Amino acid sequence: MTEKYFIPSEYQNQIEKGEVTWKSPSNIALIKYWGKEANQIPANPSISFTLNACATTTNLKFTRRKERGTEFSIDLFFEGKRKEDFKPKIITFLERVEEYLPFLKQYHFIIETSNSFPHSSGIASSASGLSALALGLMSLEKELNPKMTEEFFVKKASFLARLGSGSAARSIEGDLVEWGAHNGIENSSNLHAIKYPYAVHSVFKKYHDTILLVDKGQKEVSSTVGHNLMHGHPFSQQRFKQAHGNLTKLKGVFEKGDLKTFIEIVESEALTLHAMMMTSLPYFVLMKPNTLEIINKIWEFRKKTNSNVCFTLDAGANVHVLYPESEKDVIFQFIKDELVAFCQNGQYICDRIGFGAKKM
Ligand code: DP6
Repeated sequence: MTEKYFIPSEYQNQIEKGEVTWKSPSNIALIKYWGKEANQIPANPSISFTLNACATTTNLKFTRRKERGTEFSIDLFFEGKRKEDFKPKIITFLERVEEYLPFLKQYHFIIETSNSFPHSSGIASSASGLSALALGLMSLEKELNPKMTEEFFVKKASFLARLGSGSAARSIEGDLVEWGAHNGIENSSNLHAIKYPYAVHSVFKKYHDTILLVDKGQKEVSSTVGHNLMHGHPFSQQRFKQAHGNLTKLKGVFEKGDLKTFIEIVESEALTLHAMMMTSLPYFVLMKPNTLEIINKIWEFRKKTNSNVCFTLDAGANVHVLYPESEKDVIFQFIKDELVAFCQNGQYICDRIGFGAKKM
């Protein structure tokens, strides 16, 4: 399959106006996407748990313009307020997807969006935000072409979301989603994500992710800049190979429910991501002292109690604490007693594995 697959031929319908609302979740990568070519073509495959609580809801209203414009026509509202400073990002997204959605300049769009998590939480909203918008645009395309299959709809939504932000490709479906070509995973693609297609043990069906907000500041390094530092990075080739290997190993882990190996791979992936940042030029450190305090506490607790709690990290200081349903009471108590003290203003978000975006 190439990008051409997503370029539509003529539409059957003409739609004057309408509206649609999608709620799309965030996701947390177990195997990290870090390093890309143009248009978010990933340097290695990644896999994530789709989340449930952390989500963006986007209402898209569309009205056909009398004449096709030469520019995009959008009004943008974030949490009820007009948001001019988000516009450039959305315009860039529309420019990137225009080839695949040739109707865009034919419509005026009102985009109203809100997040379930606080804007200043340090939680990136690009995955949930861009996937929600991609889905809204796909709903309009589906009205223009009612014969579109559900399978194509989901695939193209992921494809479009990827053009906005790589990790957004993994936010359309749940509960375990893979993105990026990998030898051992049939139909895996760099162009769009897929629902993980093999056996998954029941222990991974109800995983919890408590997100500890260690530092709610703005990102010091944008992810695009970070990804690009993998070009010419002394360890990049080895890292990309490692990601492929870890994904191969995870296949067995998911099938058997092997939590010990799961923990080893997931924590190693998180630390490798940060090691890549620390060894690029320019180098940077996104962990904060409290990130390390939390990691050490988790290791101590695991040793002492034989628990299956583990952590992963994004490109930031916050810690995602992952644990299975069967241990949730004990681990949640541990989080409250010993980890919340390291959060900024004691803030954390209780999330769990989710099943993908929903039309409202
Ligand atoms: C560390 O998807 O935010 O969270 O494609 O440049 O928008 P762009 O990057 P983005 O990168 C996410 C990186 C990560 C790991 C991951 O989610 O796989």
